[in-house]
Amino acid sequence: MKQILVLNGPNLNLLGRREPEIYGDNSMEACMTALKERFPEVALTYYQSNVEGELINKLHEVGFAYDGVVLNAGAYTHTSVALHDAIKAIDTPVVEVHISNVYQRETYRHTSLITGACVGVIGGFGMDSYRLAVEALLAL
Ligand code: DQA
Repeated sequence: MKQILVLNGPNLNLLGRREPEIYGDNSMEACMTALKERFPEVALTYYQSNVEGELINKLHEVGFAYDGVVLNAGAYTHTSVALHDAIKAIDTPVVEVHISNVYQRETYRHTSLITGACVGVIGGFGMDSYRLAVEALLAL
């Protein structure tokens, strides 16, 4: 059975309550339930942290064993060389995900420091971005 980790960064624990006009009103719990129903053949796990180093530790933990990581690094996308390096350091392919279309938003969101380390990017499809990322990992 393929193992895929959905890894969320800062402030994404507040999905469903946080700026619903941008991120919608679905919780991540509901999203994971839907993903597990959609992909019963995949062992899907979820981890979220607001702490950069904990995201890096998690990438190290799964990055030589899992088949893929769906990573929404939140604002660390735009700031973290350390996350870029962690993605480069592991074997497991990582798909960068964004719920919103970051290119329609503030210019500081137009730069991603992690895209170059990821196999690809999916963004702008709301919570469906996570499903599309799992599809992409399974198609690799
Ligand atoms: C986000 C976009 C980021 O710019 C922002 O900091 C987030 C969420 C998204 O999913 O659209 O926290 O990654």
